[in-house]
Amino acid sequence: MTGMMTALFGGVGPDWTARQVPVPEPGTGQIVVRAHAVALNNADASMLAAADPTSGGTGTQYQAGYEFAGEVTAVGDGVTIPAIGDRVMGTTPGSFAQYVLADHRHVLPVPDELGYDIACALPTGLLTEHGALMTGGFRSGQSVLITGATSSIGLIGVQIVKALGAGQVIATTRSAAKHDLLERAGADTVVVTGEQDLVQAVLDTTGGDGVDLALDHVGGSTFAACLPATRVDGAVVNIGRLDTAESTVDLDALSYRHLRVAGVSFGFTRPAELGAVIAAAGEQLLPAVTDGRVRPLIDTTLTFDTADKAAERLRSDQAHGKIVLTVP
Ligand SMILES: NC(=O)c1ccc[n+]([C@@H]2O[C@H](COP(=O)([O-])OP(=O)(O)OC[C@H]3O[C@@H](n4cnc5c(N)ncnc54)[C@H](OP(=O)(O)O)[C@@H]3O)[C@@H](O)[C@H]2O)c1
Repeated sequence: MTGMMTALFGGVGPDWTARQVPVPEPGTGQIVVRAHAVALNNADASMLAAADPTSGGTGTQYQAGYEFAGEVTAVGDGVTIPAIGDRVMGTTPGSFAQYVLADHRHVLPVPDELGYDIACALPTGLLTEHGALMTGGFRSGQSVLITGATSSIGLIGVQIVKALGAGQVIATTRSAAKHDLLERAGADTVVVTGEQDLVQAVLDTTGGDGVDLALDHVGGSTFAACLPATRVDGAVVNIGRLDTAESTVDLDALSYRHLRVAGVSFGFTRPAELGAVIAAAGEQLLPAVTDGRVRPLIDTTLTFDTADKAAERLRSDQAHGKIVLTVP
């Protein structure tokens, strides 16, 4: 394939800049996907800020984005699945482009029921939340605490644990205004941390035992609270640091409860291992995606031409769910 395409770059100013670059060619094990829609993640805002030379950033220019959905247009040597013409959704750095170069193991098929504008908002949530559940040793029937559950991936997490048969799902938000959002996503109990003590609320609703598994998107004091809110022999998995990456924990709560504590960061996972995480998520979750039990919440859909508005919305911290860009 030859020719030029539009891609969005960070590292130029506070927003992404559209630039003409060559359409990529797939190497061994790679595919090229004609992207129809891409979705923003929390990490896109921090990368933009860190690279913005107009406010002290590095000025290192990079092709932005992580998530995409579209149609396979070329495959490299050794790729049998997916095939040219297949509808896929996936994750790769540099996804904000008309043609996206990706590892063939880092995509999932898009069910016929799903448009690209919805599908593009799923991969990060599916692989991260399912990968974290597997890391925590989740089993059907268990109780799960999800902190920062109104985050885009947290909302997917609530739906996933319900779809996989969780016995009880407890979800947190700082704001009472988002209580109903979490109930609609499937939470059995919502804890408003701006008004309630997290540990006490979880113990009250689990007969004093705590949950089997906590998935923490917040870090800081919320991560610390997950330890005494988790039952003996349970597990706590940190996924995000929406508050802060520093946390002071009570080691008595950790040791007396025989807890397992783990962290996941799939952006820093080796390609083959990430492929296995994505394959497992697809196997377990695509039926629930197909029948509508798992759907991303879409806050706004904009276009490449209005990517500055998308970045502004992402930075505002006001979005409820994913921000999507359709690709020209
Ligand atoms: N481990 C991985 O591989 C992986 C992959 C993707 C994302 N992540 C991480 O997961 C987290 C969520 O990502 P996302 O893109 O889904 O986020 P997002 O949609 O931007 O999250 C927005 C939500 O974050 C909550 N929030 C913001 N600041 C907070 C604070 N100081 N304390 C508590 N809650 C706060 C707000 O909830 P309320 O207002 O309702 O409280 C808001 O609804 C991020 O930290 C991200 O870096 C990790």
